[in-house]
Amino acid sequence: MRSIAFVLLLSARPIAAHVALRSGKWCFGGCETAVNYATFNDTGPGSKKTRSCEGVLRATSLYLCIDEYCEASGRTAWFQDANETCIQRINATLPPYEIIDQFGPEERSGFKRLSADEAFKWPTLNEVVVPDDDFFERAFTTLDAAYFEYDIHRVYGYVLFYFWAVVISIGVGSRLLSLIHGLRRQEWQRVSTSPDGFNHFQTKPGISSWSQALLKRYVTIPAAFNNRCSQPFGWCSVPTRIQSLTILAFVVLNIVLCSINYRLTDGNLYWPTHTAQLLRFVSDRTGIISLINFPLIWLFGMRNNTLMWMTGWGFGTYNNFHRWVARVSTAQAVVHSVGYTIMIWEGDGLASLMKYLHKHYFWNGELATILMCALLAFSVYGLRRSHYEIFLTLHIICSVFVLVTMYYHVLIFGYWEWNSFVYPCVAVWILDRLLRGGRILAFNYRFWNTKATATYDPDSHIVSLRVPCNKSWLNPQPGTYYYIYVVDDLLYAHQNHPFTLAYVSTDIERPDLQLPLSPISERPSADRAGSSDSSESDALLQPTACPSKTASLVFLVRPYDGFTARLAKRAATHQASIRVLVEGPYGHTVPLHSFTNILFMVGGTGIAVPLSHISHLLSETSSVVSLRIVWAVREHAFLASILREFHTLLEDERVELEVHVTQDEKNTDDVPADEMKRVKLMPGRPAVHDVVEEMARESGYDRLAVVACGPARMADETRKACVAMLGRGFRGVEYFEESFKW
Ligand SMILES: Cc1cc2nc3c(=O)[nH]c(=O)nc-3n(C[C@H](O)[C@H](O)[C@H](O)COP(=O)(O)OP(=O)(O)OC[C@H]3O[C@@H](n4cnc5c(N)ncnc54)[C@H](O)[C@@H]3O)c2cc1C
Ligand SMILES: NC(=O)c1ccc[n+]([C@@H]2O[C@H](COP(=O)([O-])OP(=O)(O)OC[C@H]3O[C@@H](n4cnc5c(N)ncnc54)[C@H](OP(=O)(O)O)[C@@H]3O)[C@@H](O)[C@H]2O)c1
Ligand SMILES: *[C@@H]1O[C@H](CO)[C@@H](O)[C@H](O)[C@H]1NC(C)=O
Ligand SMILES: *[C@@H]1O[C@H](CO)[C@@H](O)[C@H](O)[C@H]1NC(C)=O
Ligand SMILES: *[C@@H]1O[C@H](CO)[C@@H](O)[C@H](O)[C@H]1NC(C)=O
Ligand SMILES: *[C@@H]1O[C@H](CO)[C@@H](O)[C@H](O)[C@H]1NC(C)=O
Repeated sequence: MRSIAFVLLLSARPIAAHVALRSGKWCFGGCETAVNYATFNDTGPGSKKTRSCEGVLRATSLYLCIDEYCEASGRTAWFQDANETCIQRINATLPPYEIIDQFGPEERSGFKRLSADEAFKWPTLNEVVVPDDDFFERAFTTLDAAYFEYDIHRVYGYVLFYFWAVVISIGVGSRLLSLIHGLRRQEWQRVSTSPDGFNHFQTKPGISSWSQALLKRYVTIPAAFNNRCSQPFGWCSVPTRIQSLTILAFVVLNIVLCSINYRLTDGNLYWPTHTAQLLRFVSDRTGIISLINFPLIWLFGMRNNTLMWMTGWGFGTYNNFHRWVARVSTAQAVVHSVGYTIMIWEGDGLASLMKYLHKHYFWNGELATILMCALLAFSVYGLRRSHYEIFLTLHIICSVFVLVTMYYHVLIFGYWEWNSFVYPCVAVWILDRLLRGGRILAFNYRFWNTKATATYDPDSHIVSLRVPCNKSWLNPQPGTYYYIYVVDDLLYAHQNHPFTLAYVSTDIERPDLQLPLSPISERPSADRAGSSDSSESDALLQPTACPSKTASLVFLVRPYDGFTARLAKRAATHQASIRVLVEGPYGHTVPLHSFTNILFMVGGTGIAVPLSHISHLLSETSSVVSLRIVWAVREHAFLASILREFHTLLEDERVELEVHVTQDEKNTDDVPADEMKRVKLMPGRPAVHDVVEEMARESGYDRLAVVACGPARMADETRKACVAMLGRGFRGVEYFEESFKW
């Protein structure tokens, strides 16, 4: 804050007032700069340091200049500094300021006036000189502009922190508001539930709900443009509109901060032309802001990012921020490096470049920029998608080297001046790794002894992974995900991949899913009044309950090429137990509790999301009136196994399951008829838009949560349909996406 005030003060001051006294340290510094052009020979051929500390001619000239052009305030402090420097360097003190008291006005006007032209010849003098008005003014404005810039570079860098502080505060604020809203709504609903068991709570069509609907329709829900959000755009992906706007604001802010307030002066002693000044100032500005962006990059990229649970935004959101801050920072680093390279090249071409390449700070800086560009290149969507592990390894290695080279690049300024932006990155990184380890320990403090059961069913092409969780300190929550490491395979033991918790099973003896032992099957279905006897496993998905002795987490894993393919192979051949590390839970439960109507639009393994939520949503405290699951699934066997596990869930009147088996034509023999009764089996892919529309019509003005988890196209179509429904006046519609990739 002080420096901002300082900057404002400086810019408000007229610059070209010749007669007025200058104030501040750049006035004293200006005199020193001007006087330093001359060499005074009264101290003999001593070192430069000796001369500048002990020389009486020099001191007299300097003091006379200061006396003539500068205000007295701050002078003592400035001299104390200079004096201390001399004591440190050569154990000598500056002559006292009072030595100029002996000169009266006439003598003073009789001293030689040093002009700039003369000074540029680096004269050796045997007399006292005083810089003339013009020369002093040039020296002063040179320093003043240079240090003004130096200060403002840093101030502008901090503006970025303020920017993200505002963004995060908005996130925290809106989360708090919706939490309070949700609680109030739930309270209201509990009181007003009518005798028929349904409540007729309607959204009050007030101004606030109207503006909220507009906000949802145009800002928070839609894709940035063209209805593509989960699906990539060629080689890149575009985040949602609200995220895109935030990122755009950040990019624009960076461009503005790198383009404004360059104080170019005429007759600058350091950089004679405006172009040279601009080159230098722009290079410095971009370099400094690039570095100040570093802590943000690391913070936003971490798995254990506290901002995530403060704002309720997922890893995907922060990952988008992470990418864009990194891109901006890299662009700035490139400008910085190119700028300095040009400046050096303009000195003496290749010769001076070679000279600089031997300087530690210089080649480290150039290397850091090259590495940052490499990091960007290795992070393109294509590589991330097709070779995730290679991307990750390169990403980590390059990041380490960026930090190391950056450290040496700015070390010439001291351990803290600029490295204070490198240390936080290291700290955040280490903290994240420690927290990851902590989470593994919290899941099972005897972490080496977590033995999971994996079964692979070739018909459904699904691995179901059961991990006993009876030692976990943290209770499983619906909609959360865990990172799984398979440690049996030492070569790949470091690899870990996220999987959504599908449900908690209390029976580990029967991994073959024969008996209905699922959370739902044990609870008295459609019985909202029976509060005392909800089952043990039902309680598992409640925040308070403690896991039972035999409880295990169940993950439904679709084998792809890497980690998941190895898991499937292992499950198919060994069938039995696999040693795993489990890191989690991560993510947060979307607040579906306060909605009356819920639609899950899921594809394939996306069914894990509704499964994990369902017992929670059908519990007595929830306000759900109707819960519809539309599931596109390729394999009939997958459907059959889920139905066996969850069949009584369908007896709850509120639940409706619509299944689209899209690939194999096998009929429904392997599922008992009564289990099929409440399942609507449909051919072909679901018509996403129609389903959403139908559900919105049924809900009317009630609040409808649409949760999508499935193939990118399906998610994008669902998002689009929700926006369309908001446009038709269904203000209660809310869209949530559980993304399986980022
Ligand atoms: C929050 C979340 C929950 C998930 N839940 C499930 C689930 O319940 N069931 C399920 O079958 N799958 C789930 N996935 C997807 C699962 O993580 C990937 O299928 C798995 O990582 C692929 O590993 P692979 O090495 O076999 O795949 P590869 O064939 O190497 O890659 C397949 C795809 O997965 C992406 N991917 C690979 N590793 C990761 C990673 N660590 N983080 C993010 N993306 C990655 C790649 O970019 C690529 O697009 C979930 C993903 C996320 C992000
Ligand atoms: N390699 C990866 O990218 C990867 C890895 C793991 C998980 N995932 C993601 O995890 C989710 C589930 O994966 P999965 O392998 O279990 O799914 P899956 O077996 O591919 O099943 C997806 C189902 O959704 C249907 N579907 C696809 N696009 C649709 C659309 N636009 N509208 C309606 N229905 C549509 C499919 O129908 P058809 O049979 O007609 O296609 C299929 O029945 C997906 O998001 C998937 O992308 C991706
Ligand atoms: C500095 O100089 C003073 C006298 O000029 C002397 O007493 C003192 O020992 C010197 N200190 C050092 C560290 O040389
Ligand atoms: C520097 O320090 C010495 C010794 O403390 C003192 O006599 C002298 O006046 C100081 N010089 C100035 C310019 O303040
Ligand atoms: C300093 O320089 C002047 C002229 O430049 C010369 O006359 C004088 O002798 C020199 N003095 C010493 C001490 O070198
Ligand atoms: C947890 O479950 C495992 C496997 O069923 C069992 O061997 C172990 O005794 C249980 N531990 C506790 C603390 O209940």
